[in-house]
Amino acid sequence: MATPVIFNNMVLRDGHQSLAATRMTTEQMLPALELLDNLGFGSLETWGGATIDAGLRFLNEFPFDRLDALKAGTPKTPHMMLLRGQNIVQYANFPDDVVEAFVMTAAKHGMDIFRIFDALNDTRNMRKAIEATKAAGKHAQGVMCYTTSPVHTIETFLKMGEEIEAMGCDSICIKDMAGLIPPVFAYKLVKGLKERVRIPINVHTHETAGLGANTYYTAVEAGADMIDTSITPFANGTGQPDTVRMLSHLADHPRKPDYDLEALQQLREHFTRVYAELDPFTAHKNEVVNIDTLIYQVPGGMLSNFRNQLKEQKMSDRFDEVFAEIPVVREALGWIPLVTPTSQIVGVQAMLNVKFGRWQNFSPQAMDIALGYYGQTPAAVDPEVQKIAAQKSGKDPITCRPADLAKPSMDRLRKELKEAGLPDDDEHCVIHAMFPQELKKHYDSRQAPEPKPETVEIPAAAAPAPEAAPAPAAAPAPAAAPAPVARGSRLHEVHISVNGRDFDAVVEEVILTD
Ligand code: CO
Repeated sequence: MATPVIFNNMVLRDGHQSLAATRMTTEQMLPALELLDNLGFGSLETWGGATIDAGLRFLNEFPFDRLDALKAGTPKTPHMMLLRGQNIVQYANFPDDVVEAFVMTAAKHGMDIFRIFDALNDTRNMRKAIEATKAAGKHAQGVMCYTTSPVHTIETFLKMGEEIEAMGCDSICIKDMAGLIPPVFAYKLVKGLKERVRIPINVHTHETAGLGANTYYTAVEAGADMIDTSITPFANGTGQPDTVRMLSHLADHPRKPDYDLEALQQLREHFTRVYAELDPFTAHKNEVVNIDTLIYQVPGGMLSNFRNQLKEQKMSDRFDEVFAEIPVVREALGWIPLVTPTSQIVGVQAMLNVKFGRWQNFSPQAMDIALGYYGQTPAAVDPEVQKIAAQKSGKDPITCRPADLAKPSMDRLRKELKEAGLPDDDEHCVIHAMFPQELKKHYDSRQAPEPKPETVEIPAAAAPAPEAAPAPAAAPAPAAAPAPVARGSRLHEVHISVNGRDFDAVVEEVILTD
């Protein structure tokens, strides 16, 4: 008797992160919990990725309160979170003591499975989080981020799988956030891993390019132990394939699992109501398959960010030229995967190279990648480009694990919280480490979630002349702080008040990807 494949459910994290700008509130989740808990999912992904940032920033929810509420409502099913390795749930490396405290505290609040990745696939950036997870007695799932390049062969990924197992992980996740893994490649990779490692294999993909369900099917054929599905309408498109849809794909397959279709239908009804409530943040133009991602082989969100930035820079007519520069930048920077935050950094640098001449205007983030401050790149950085980065930044290249340069911070964080009159437990310390302004704002004013349409106040000094007022794009300007990488973007109609005058405008919001 073949073992049924296990479905993990993504609706409470990746589902709304991918399809509704991470805006689902705890309140909107609560009525679904009993149904979700009784369906027999392998795990429920409930936390991490962008949910901590977005929940605090836009919904004024303290992240651990959400975890407590969800845990209480789903006591039977293990919870999973997405952890960006040494970046925790941010975009830069944090000291080891903060990573440890974060994992320990999340475990204390009931997190069971920690899915741990690094944007460069540098396992040194995953090690501390894995160790902390094991020390807390929890399940560590090590991730390989799927990407294509001359140095990313099946063998590269198989070796990484062996390394993940050797590091003490309990399972492996093949993570395909762009939804670009070809079904046959997925088959070969899973098959190879099943021959070379003993721990279970989980496949995670997105339906962005229309390959997701087929990829899951071949992965199941090859022996994948777990796949990630979601609930419509927070499924398909840029999200995971829907659970009902995957069951149909596996009809009569010896490994088809058994799920209560009536309960799934009730969940769909609930989440359809929530989707309508989140209307300002969902994709109106329900583009089921993003053919561009297939043609250009980059994440869908990177492409839409990219087009917008070219427009801002009045370079729309140079799309082909800038696009052709992407592989040049990737190769020079050691063939880094295009995932959070590297896809944004590569896209911006490609644009700067075309506009100002190659490496004439080198963004601080791209220089940091060239100098090793994000970790070890999959291939060596072009030595000439590294030399330019060293000269322009005045920094020396490093080869150590970046977090080795960071000083322990928990004592300082605790002191800062105490001085600010805020709670100084570990929960607050780790959130303060990553989102100091948002945490302060959370305590300063318990404002309601954003009304729709939003009103954006622009201070007089910073306001552009009304005639020329461009939409204040949320998309970051080139060479700005490392920006979250978008899977897709959403347009919002807003009222803007400039110098006391009111305008209607459309702003573009960048959606986080991972
Ligand atoms: Co994902």
